[in-house]
Amino acid sequence: MSLSRRNFITIAGSAAVVVAAGHHLVRRDAMPAVAIAPWSDPGAAEPDRRKRLLAYAILAPNPHNMQPWLVDLSQPDRIDLYCDRDRLLPHTDPFSRQILIGHGAFLELLDLAASAEGYRTEITYFPAGEFGDLIDDRPVATVRLVADPSRTPDPLFEQILQRRSAKVPFAATPLTAEHGQALVAAYRDPTCPLTIATDQSQVLALQGVVQSGVEIELRTPRTYQESVDVMRIGAREVAEHRNGIDLTGVPISIGRLLGLVNREKLADPTTQAFKSGVAMYRQIAVATPAFAWITTVDNRRTTQLAVGRAYARLNLQATALGVAMHPMSQVLQEYDEMRSLQRGFLSLLNVAEGETVQMLVRLGYAAPQPPAPRRDLQDLLLT
Ligand SMILES: Cc1cc2nc3c(=O)[nH]c(=O)nc-3n(C[C@H](O)[C@H](O)[C@H](O)COP(=O)(O)O)c2cc1C
Repeated sequence: MSLSRRNFITIAGSAAVVVAAGHHLVRRDAMPAVAIAPWSDPGAAEPDRRKRLLAYAILAPNPHNMQPWLVDLSQPDRIDLYCDRDRLLPHTDPFSRQILIGHGAFLELLDLAASAEGYRTEITYFPAGEFGDLIDDRPVATVRLVADPSRTPDPLFEQILQRRSAKVPFAATPLTAEHGQALVAAYRDPTCPLTIATDQSQVLALQGVVQSGVEIELRTPRTYQESVDVMRIGAREVAEHRNGIDLTGVPISIGRLLGLVNREKLADPTTQAFKSGVAMYRQIAVATPAFAWITTVDNRRTTQLAVGRAYARLNLQATALGVAMHPMSQVLQEYDEMRSLQRGFLSLLNVAEGETVQMLVRLGYAAPQPPAPRRDLQDLLLT
């Protein structure tokens, strides 16, 4: 997430220091080009079709931008997808439900890219059996690529490079009825229904819920520390890791210069850096004209993949319409401190007993956002 828009009051107030520091110091924490190179012409010079398609799949939305995918290409015309268990989020996502949604999104983008080359994908989920509560070393999916002259490019393919998770306050403009209806009309998967709320009282209540969810996550030391551990602070760390929560931009640069922003300061709830983060999320939550959520009757692993596929399409459809979308998952998370808020949230939405809200997103309008870092496809290949 770029911090250039963040409300670092103290930092912003230190203009004199900035001037003294000179532009070259401030510019040093701009997003490094290498971190976002995978968004330019993915797979262009790649002779292996599978790698060309995978170069699009890695641009999928995924929790904390962990990019928890591993790919085995040892069998011809086949892609075996595994979960990288070194990139899980055990505190905020104890059953790796969100991680698997990110795998579903990956498979959907792979399929869209296949459509653009006149191929279809034959995907077998969990060919060696479905995971239980924990992810193990069995494959998530096997994908066969089949030439299909009747397949035309899916129009959503064109949106992959523009799609973003817009982690910013939205304009004070209501979501138009036309856009809400277009999102619902394009949504295909009846197994994980979508609901959009634009009603003022419900939106206000949900603004409060997501804000409380963030507060709980940030003030629960182990869940917040999980985020701090994957924060990439400044251009050097972002270029080195190309994943996680990227903190770049002028306020970060100045904050680092002043010693106000570093891993220890961000982790300490008494600091200005921490308080500014909380304030920023509050601003984001209240600047939300509409919410949407995806619900499922069961919470099986295949269902989580289906949700990821449906969510990726929804995000791409929103991109096509010029609607900004931003998941805020805190209240959905499965740990003790979140349970009471979660119960209230589920009853607010009239979610039936036993059903799961898999995604909760903000909807609205925002200026175009920069892309988030991605690792090289090469780093994901097992063979
Ligand atoms: C299952 C899931 C949960 C997510 N939850 C959050 C969230 O709580 N807060 C947030 O800012 N972004 C969330 N995101 C968005 C990711 O952070 C985002 O996809 C990632 O940083 C990559 O950025 P991009 O989508 O712009 O490519 C979520 C994405 C997925 C797939």
